[in-house]
Amino acid sequence: MIKLQNICKTFNEGKNNEKKALKNVSLDVNDGELVAIIGKSGAGKSTLLNIVACLDTPSSGEYLIDGENTANFSPSKTAEIRNGYFGVVTQSPFMIDNITPLENVVIPLMYDRKNKKDRYRRAAEALASVGIDSGLKVKTAVLSGGEQQRVSIARAIVNNPRVILADEPTGNLDKENSDGVMKILLNINKEGRTVIVITHDPDIAAQCGRVVTVSDGEIIMDEKNADR
Ligand SMILES: Nc1ncnc2c1ncn2[C@@H]1O[C@H](COP(=O)(O)OP(=O)(O)O)[C@@H](O)[C@H]1O
Ligand SMILES: [Mg+2]
Repeated sequence: MIKLQNICKTFNEGKNNEKKALKNVSLDVNDGELVAIIGKSGAGKSTLLNIVACLDTPSSGEYLIDGENTANFSPSKTAEIRNGYFGVVTQSPFMIDNITPLENVVIPLMYDRKNKKDRYRRAAEALASVGIDSGLKVKTAVLSGGEQQRVSIARAIVNNPRVILADEPTGNLDKENSDGVMKILLNINKEGRTVIVITHDPDIAAQCGRVVTVSDGEIIMDEKNADR
């Protein structure tokens, strides 16, 4: 479980371009939840997600993962959490263009001491779960945007993380591909993983059990969706 307590994040503190991106944000997310985070551009959504992913640290406040204060994590524990507890999906997939989808998905497993065959088997399974043929002998760059986003979801889940964090994963996609990506995220959640998805799309937010609205660095609404 994820627990943010009075989190503040200030960029360029004390300078004339100081920006309070998060102001006293408190948020609990239980295991297995499907949460949408909505709000205008510049509201602080990505800043919030980066802190949750342990890619950034708060200026003040406490962030607990399963009851442990992340401020006390050693660098190796933080690395382990980033790589194994969270899977991150971004708007632009950041794939290595000139290698195959399978080779992209196997990358997060390279730190794993398990044998090569097992790594490739797990990567192939992750690709199959997002509907991409793991035998594709093409450069990732030739895939469509929707396919590349699905490869990036496979890459995010290959380590079997507890939580998927998706920052506007459908932002660059048309309706059909967007629906496909959301279906995959819903399935990942049905498997028992926590999914937190930042989105501008009301259709996507409507499919989530909980909708958190961020405005000007604050959570101004946190609603359960009655339909789900
Ligand atoms: N690294 C940074 N340095 C300075 N300001 C930043 C940085 N990251 C984000 N900001 C500012 O913090 C605010 C929130 O940004 P962000 O979390 O990216 O918003 P959102 O994802 O909701 O669009 C914005 O005003 C943005 O310009
Ligand atoms: Mg953002």
